Amino acid sequence: MDFTKQLNTDKLPKHIAIIMDGNGRWAKKQGLLRMAGHQEGTTAVRETVEACAKIGIKNLTLYAFSTENWNRPKIEVRTLMKLLVSSLKKEIKTLMNNNIKLNAIGCLKNLPEKAQKELQEVISKTSENNHMTLTLALSYGSREELINCFQEINKAIQDKEITVEQIDENTIQKHLYTKNLPDVDLLIRTSGEQRISNFLLWQIAYAELYFTQTLWPDFRKEDLVEAIVNYQNRERRFGKTSEQLS
Ligand code: FPP
Repeated sequence: MDFTKQLNTDKLPKHIAIIMDGNGRWAKKQGLLRMAGHQEGTTAVRETVEACAKIGIKNLTLYAFSTENWNRPKIEVRTLMKLLVSSLKKEIKTLMNNNIKLNAIGCLKNLPEKAQKELQEVISKTSENNHMTLTLALSYGSREELINCFQEINKAIQDKEITVEQIDENTIQKHLYTKNLPDVDLLIRTSGEQRISNFLLWQIAYAELYFTQTLWPDFRKEDLVEAIVNYQNRERRFGKTSEQLS
């Protein structure tokens, strides 16, 4: 059966963001090392990316490595970076086959040189693709992004490009790492945790939040469809009343 059949194609979220959580717990449950969970997590990444492209989601953002994740044991950080490089090398084919543009947000200069180089290469090779934008949040923290945003705006004021009075929501949006992306419509977090963990704080102002018990390595297209169906059954009021909407 076509797995997209249950979806209303007129009401698709324009931007889905996912906090991929539970790799460590998945591995522990299988009696494996944490890294096996991250490795298995890459299968869930591929399936989710392909399913989003098939459904017609225009923007997918994945929280792959946070600023706080640098505090994990060195060996885990090193192996995660290696996994990033090998996945980029391997998945360029998936991105090209599905006409997907790769984008990255975060403090990318903190990534190992090899990862930066591979990332730039895939970003450049996929830059003309236009069916969907896949954004990887790497060395990403929303507070760091906002500090960077305020510093850029301050510089623009000092350079007399804008005045303080001219600062509005659009000004902030233009100086975020996500400047080319729409606001998040649906935020999914796996593994049963119900928190935001410094992810896209500005961009989720009106997002619908969806939490599932499924651990990230077990997340499949059926879980994605369930999340989108749940989203489509909600009434998004943006501060208005139900009556105003109808
Ligand atoms: C959270 O699970 C997951 C991460 C910190 C890393 C996410 C990485 C992947 C899914 C694989 C690589 C991704 C790409 C894009 C190549 P956790 O380790 O915090 O799990 P736990 O809470 O159960 O310990």
